[in-house]
Amino acid sequence: MTSFLRKDLQDYKPASNLHFNERIKSLQKNGTKVFHLGFGQSPFPIPAFAQEEFKANAHNGQYLSMRGIPELRSAICTYHKTEDGLDHFSPDNIVVGPGSKELIFLLMCVTGSDVILLSPTWTTYKPQSILSQHNVFMIETTFEESWKLTPKKLNNLFEENIVKERSVLIFVNPDNPTGASYTREELEALSVVFRKHNLLVVCDEIYAQLSFNDSHVSLAKFYPEGSVLSSGISKWASCGGWRLGYHLYPQELQEVGEAVASAASQTYTCASAPVQYAAVSLMKFDDNAKSYVQHCKRILHEVAQFCCRTLRSAGVKVHMSNSGYYIFPDFCVIRDKLASRGIRTGAQMCEAILKDTGVALMAGGPAYLHPPEELTVRLCYVNFDGTKALKASEKIGLQKMLPESFLSENCAPTVEAISLLANWVRQQ
Ligand SMILES: Cc1ncc(COP(=O)(O)O)c(C=O)c1O
Repeated sequence: MTSFLRKDLQDYKPASNLHFNERIKSLQKNGTKVFHLGFGQSPFPIPAFAQEEFKANAHNGQYLSMRGIPELRSAICTYHKTEDGLDHFSPDNIVVGPGSKELIFLLMCVTGSDVILLSPTWTTYKPQSILSQHNVFMIETTFEESWKLTPKKLNNLFEENIVKERSVLIFVNPDNPTGASYTREELEALSVVFRKHNLLVVCDEIYAQLSFNDSHVSLAKFYPEGSVLSSGISKWASCGGWRLGYHLYPQELQEVGEAVASAASQTYTCASAPVQYAAVSLMKFDDNAKSYVQHCKRILHEVAQFCCRTLRSAGVKVHMSNSGYYIFPDFCVIRDKLASRGIRTGAQMCEAILKDTGVALMAGGPAYLHPPEELTVRLCYVNFDGTKALKASEKIGLQKMLPESFLSENCAPTVEAISLLANWVRQQ
């Protein structure tokens, strides 16, 4: 029988990170002890005030405004004005959806340009570009460049006529999977090139509020006319499963924003009603929300530092993360030793680590658009009980530093996993 599938989707796979998560979860369900460092989601509970708001709106079963309720769009606008110093967005040019992932996909669907991705990058952009039938071009970043895009590399793509002007570039800052973030100077320099080539840049800044030293700067400050700001409540407010994200379009890209809003109305209709009302309480970003984020961030920061320190002590190359849940270590120090065991790819190495130590890691190769033989992994340092850790941090208070014993007392599964991993490296 002839296939009904599009030819280019014959081998279309589910999201590699979600697939991996389900595989590890099923191992755990069957009683295997696994330290799951392969899936990045907030370990912390949703702030109590937002949960209350959600419950209070559970009765609301109506379809809502297709762009999102006005009070939410207004709160989003004020939030980005206060937090990022961005005052060029208007509530009329915001689209709220069931996750920023869906909105990025709709944006790709309504634009006819080529798509430029960095490599490594988050697992979803390339499969979304294929689904929306775009040509995809990649710019490889390196450990030496701290996994960041440089103006020179971007310029090369145009000078060699590889990519057309007016393409869409997906720019994740702070980054998943590398934890990298860009300085003001780097953003200024990149903006010159973005402007020169008339790029539409999707600034995926969903990890911005988790910036460990509050140093996040939005690209939209330097390239306002070409930046679509993509964010949501999945990360800083621990609401991934609530499915609410949003896009802010500048006046200059209003046409694209309108088309995304139309596509939204033709596909998902509107984001969930109780979630939108609860999100208003989050986006108002009052003192309760601020304090919650400060606690979450300092715990994540402490854990990230421990991971980097411990892995470096075993010879692993790794850059410290600036935000979020991830680091992207490179285990090339044991390449020859692994080769003598017949292990030549990142995926084979991760299987060996899982078998030898019980630590689950996702290889940093093809899923992140990097070569299979690269020995990088995306390591998510969030396999601890966030409810317990948050309570302990709140008890200590923000005026005092976390004591040295904090991690071993409150984030023990991560400490154990990283210690096992470092020992495994030493034993090769
Ligand atoms: C870089 C990045 N962008 C977007 C998303 C998706 O966020 P949302 O839950 O808003 O769809 C994720 C989630 O993993 C992410 O890591």
